[in-house]
Amino acid sequence: MSLFPNPLHYSESNCFYASWRCPSNIAIVKYWGKFGLQLPRNPSLSLTLDKAHTDTTVKVMPRQMTDSSVTVIVDGLKNENFKPKIMAFLKHIEAYLPWTASYDYEIHTHNTFPHGAGIASSASAFGALSLCLLSVEEQMLDNAYAEDEFLKKASFLARIGSGSASRSVYPIAAAWGKLEQLNASDEYAIPCGDRLHKIFHTFHDDILIVSKNEKSVSSTAGHQLMEGNPFASLRYEQAEQRMHDLIHCLALGDIEAFGTLCEEEALSLHALMMLSKPSYLLMEPNSIAIIQKIRNFRAETKLPVYFTLDAGPNIHLLYPDNIASKVREWVDHDLVHFCKDQFYLKDKVGQGPQIIPQI
Ligand code: DP6
Repeated sequence: MSLFPNPLHYSESNCFYASWRCPSNIAIVKYWGKFGLQLPRNPSLSLTLDKAHTDTTVKVMPRQMTDSSVTVIVDGLKNENFKPKIMAFLKHIEAYLPWTASYDYEIHTHNTFPHGAGIASSASAFGALSLCLLSVEEQMLDNAYAEDEFLKKASFLARIGSGSASRSVYPIAAAWGKLEQLNASDEYAIPCGDRLHKIFHTFHDDILIVSKNEKSVSSTAGHQLMEGNPFASLRYEQAEQRMHDLIHCLALGDIEAFGTLCEEEALSLHALMMLSKPSYLLMEPNSIAIIQKIRNFRAETKLPVYFTLDAGPNIHLLYPDNIASKVREWVDHDLVHFCKDQFYLKDKVGQGPQIIPQI
């Protein structure tokens, strides 16, 4: 495909290789609640990240036995933990990539963000894996996709691995889930970077790591709990309305409206968790302390610094590039001691996935 003029992919003795880097993303309007084969109950929109990403090389070999063989190697070491999810993913996508049923897989992967830092890796991981599989398909069938079709299919496949992964294959920003205004679909995400005012193209997202512990309730379990949540239908309506509002303020470059909506969404997500049956809480005392600090800092300085959270205790600090040095100074002075091991990841809006050399 024309976007990637110098493919580093090669094949040898009926084996095929592909390597991709895929970023993570941070949802502004959150996907929370799903049905069927990972279809969302409401539309969502995210900013694509830059530093938080996964590098993956996939080696595809003709199948040796009746049952498939999948080897997962994380940072050079064989890893059994991710295998069941990847095997289930490969089984599900057979209907859309029929050749996958006749091959075995060796998957090498590396995350740039520290393991167990509480940063979700499934979006970047399934994004990278899907891109690799499609590159393999291009070689195998000697048939290059058009650039937009390639990314659309990658998004479709990634969604089956993890819903939020559908949004990770595009630069700047992406929307997933039916929404007339965008002509968007439940089955794959669409790029929407060109709808954003340029101020958002260089936005920062500093990820303040409050806890590195495994979440007490996984995202997958959280989505399921939405099925019995008494506020579910109200929430899905609210998310749709917020998509309209968000698209409007992103286009205008209205940072204040964006930030207000962003915080309301994060708090809605966590309120839904608290109101689930059974109720649960993923925020921690330091998450609340940081939120209070952000509100006070904003009130005192009038600087546009806002927060969001995904399904965990970590705080994403969102702000425009022109105030970066003032914000960093404040984070290093006032916030970093609320972070586990004083660690935070300085990230920003990124340019989407890219082909990389074999890892
Ligand atoms: C709160 O995509 O991790 O981050 O589809 O079960 O893999 P699965 O869930 P996942 O859920 C992400 C939830 C969220 C909001 C979002 O990213 O939109």
